[in-house]
Amino acid sequence: MTKSRDFSDLTFSLYKDAGDMKMYESDYRNGQWDDGRIVPFHNIELSPAANILNYGQGIFEGMKAYRTVKDKIVMFRPEENGKRFLRSLDQIALPPMTLEKFKAAVYDTVKANHEFVPPSTDGRHSMYLRPLCIATEAMLGVKAAKECLFLVYASPVGPYYPGIGVVRLLVTPTHRAAARGSGDAKAVSNYPVTMRPREEAVKAGFDGALFLDTKHDRYIEEAGAANFFALMDDDTLVTPRLGSILPGITRASLLHLAADKFGMKVKEVDLDIDDFCKHAKECFLTGTGATITSVSEVSWKGTIYNVNKNDFQLAHKLYNSLIGIQLQQEEDPYGWITEIMSV
Ligand code: PLP
Ligand code: COI
Repeated sequence: MTKSRDFSDLTFSLYKDAGDMKMYESDYRNGQWDDGRIVPFHNIELSPAANILNYGQGIFEGMKAYRTVKDKIVMFRPEENGKRFLRSLDQIALPPMTLEKFKAAVYDTVKANHEFVPPSTDGRHSMYLRPLCIATEAMLGVKAAKECLFLVYASPVGPYYPGIGVVRLLVTPTHRAAARGSGDAKAVSNYPVTMRPREEAVKAGFDGALFLDTKHDRYIEEAGAANFFALMDDDTLVTPRLGSILPGITRASLLHLAADKFGMKVKEVDLDIDDFCKHAKECFLTGTGATITSVSEVSWKGTIYNVNKNDFQLAHKLYNSLIGIQLQQEEDPYGWITEIMSV
């Protein structure tokens, strides 16, 4: 008999009963990937000299499986995550993989854990999938490893930003990613540099840090784990242009939705922090974890700016539309939903 699962108090953290779940693993050795397998969730053993431990040669993805009103388990644009995973592998000098292998690994992990996809009517609960590829070869020199492990594990989750989905951000003087560096790859090494700025922001009473570009130190890039959007006072929806930021799938989808469904003017721009502080009427963060999280205030050079003069109206409208598609409450005119199984 299937045990009933406790999905109360879900936060964005590893599920308390993750030990009851399954994961996928596949090894790369002698120039090829093995077939891979679904196994019980378990700890992994690594040499202290493994490249991932010493030099951080690793990449990951973040995706969600939803239990919908049509009694299906679905995923949102999984091919896009697959393509980004393949690009990240290349950027971090990990071995290539086919899109088919990536998709099969993710879908098999969803199916093996289907009882852990929580019900949700408002999109706040889902099962998060974490595909991960790490260099396991024991080595001392700084060079690309020839042995790797590809894993996919899963966890039921709640919202990335706790509370009511409104955050306050502190613009940090530190940088996340250099131009022509690894900022646009989902490399594990992009994340530790965001941790001290986040701690400092929290210590100062904010929820997170906002990063500017390295070259001019004035164009907004993104938060540590989500992309950035602003509705300006001329009613244009703007977002920082691609380059050293992560090319978010939620970001691309919302640009499309805002223009196509709501007829809005949308633009990818160099978003000057001073212009933003003066002219923003609404602001939000986007991501698989973050979904759409409103930003109420931004602190820049000691002044706190109210960047929500619009009562979060646009964020709510876009959120309802995006979640409506993801939970199959609304039509999916763009073919963004992949049905994994019926439940
Ligand atoms: N930016 C960073 C640094 C992220 O880690 C994420 C999360 O994946 C995003 C943006 C949003 O990307 P996506 O919408 O594809 O989840
Ligand atoms: C996501 O939103 O999926 C992410 O990967 C961001 C964060 C949890 C690292």
